[in-house]
Amino acid sequence: MAGSGTFSEIIDGDVYKYYVDGQWNKSSSGKSVPIINPTTRKTHYKVQACTQEEVNNVIDSAKKAQKLWAKTPLWKRAELLHKAAAILKENKAPIAECLVKEIAKPAKDAVTEVVRSGDLVSYCAEEGVRILGEGKFLVSDSFPGNDRTKYCLTSKIPLGVVLAIPPFNYPVNLAISKIAPALIAGNSIVLKPPTQGAVAALHMVHCFHLAGFPKGLIGCVTGKGSEIGDFLTMHPGVNCISFTGGDTGISISRKAGMIPLQMELGGKDACIVLEDADLDLAAANIVKGGFSYSGQRCTAVKVVLVMEKVASSLVKKVNEKVAKLTVGPPEDNCDITPVVTESSANFVEGLVKDAKEKKATFCQEYKREGNLIWPLLLDNVRPDMRIAWEEPFGPVLPVIRIKTVEEGIHHCNASNFGLQGCVFTSDINKAIMISDAMETGTVQINSAPARGPDHFPFQGLKDSGIGSQGITNSIHIMTKVKTTVINLPAPSYTMG
Ligand code: G3P
Repeated sequence: MAGSGTFSEIIDGDVYKYYVDGQWNKSSSGKSVPIINPTTRKTHYKVQACTQEEVNNVIDSAKKAQKLWAKTPLWKRAELLHKAAAILKENKAPIAECLVKEIAKPAKDAVTEVVRSGDLVSYCAEEGVRILGEGKFLVSDSFPGNDRTKYCLTSKIPLGVVLAIPPFNYPVNLAISKIAPALIAGNSIVLKPPTQGAVAALHMVHCFHLAGFPKGLIGCVTGKGSEIGDFLTMHPGVNCISFTGGDTGISISRKAGMIPLQMELGGKDACIVLEDADLDLAAANIVKGGFSYSGQRCTAVKVVLVMEKVASSLVKKVNEKVAKLTVGPPEDNCDITPVVTESSANFVEGLVKDAKEKKATFCQEYKREGNLIWPLLLDNVRPDMRIAWEEPFGPVLPVIRIKTVEEGIHHCNASNFGLQGCVFTSDINKAIMISDAMETGTVQINSAPARGPDHFPFQGLKDSGIGSQGITNSIHIMTKVKTTVINLPAPSYTMG
């Protein structure tokens, strides 16, 4: 059970503590923030409402710890990361339980998230040892007017304190994808988990605590964004921000100072289906991509753009699969579970109402109970409908019938988002031309969009983000280049 056994230290009464300087503490605010279970819509957990002074303490402590950590040998950093990965995986059950209760992630997927995170930590440790153990050597005669009098040595050094802000939909995995590269690269971490998902994140932090990382190197504050959000992101002690979430990321990037930013915001991932596509394969991927975790993924398929000639057959195949999706509580491993908050469900409902008024074809009846929304495919969607452009982050998927491939590419590129896209066709040449034309960070050929495998580059264009993720890219973003130039005497100098 969450909060017991291995984790009893991290809770006081019914309120989870925050983590500072290697210790689990209560906030001096005396206040807590409730975490509402999306299924029962009742308070399930409480976390500390940290104060700005406590944020200062966490950042100060992380700053001090980082100085020593930067001098710790890479193999030693990697050893601790491997240890944390093992502890994390050993505790997959209690952490997954938190994910089920806080964010209504289906039980099986919750376990997968924790295991995937452990694997990510281990891969990151290995990758870091390799790429950070290398530097470059340059000779000046490659540049005019310099002869061979200058020799340049470069290496990668850490940035300092990395602020990690993961989203509710992967509070463990998308925290880990920031924490592990930051640590292997010699940085310290301040984690601000999302409110829904904070308890799973605190359990994950405790696994790092048990692995024996130096005190202060990892800190974790919880609380209301309105109280500590701006204070954290504008804090002069923060040297890099890695954020995944909604459009708050845009305001963070405007407020943050001159520091590296790694941001993944939303997406409106388009799925283009051509006449020569394998429609069974396309339908399977559309259902998986559009409805897994109830559509609450940045990389979910969020609009299907299908050639008119095959549209009816595709829609039929998709509907057959939608009918088989199970709907209910995450504990029962249902495919469709309640969306994270009541306001998220209301937002989805607003998009559905707009589509109804504008006469989209409803392939299923719209049904909602509390935060639980039944999967819905909307056919014959037109560009004047909100659902054609906005991301529902819920189990509702629009289909737009297109006359030409160009029309599909145009719709995709007219979006302010540019995360991923996918194309289904049996013609590889066409697929590559469409991929080149789509203004997205990644295009998947004959498969649904996805961030993983976790060492692949992952990035959004336009309002979908800045900076590339994936293990190797994250390690690079969380370091800076240090150069030392050795200057030899002028060429007139003779060696005697
Ligand atoms: O929604 C967050 C985004 O990173 C999705 O990840 O693994 O579901 O493609 P994934």
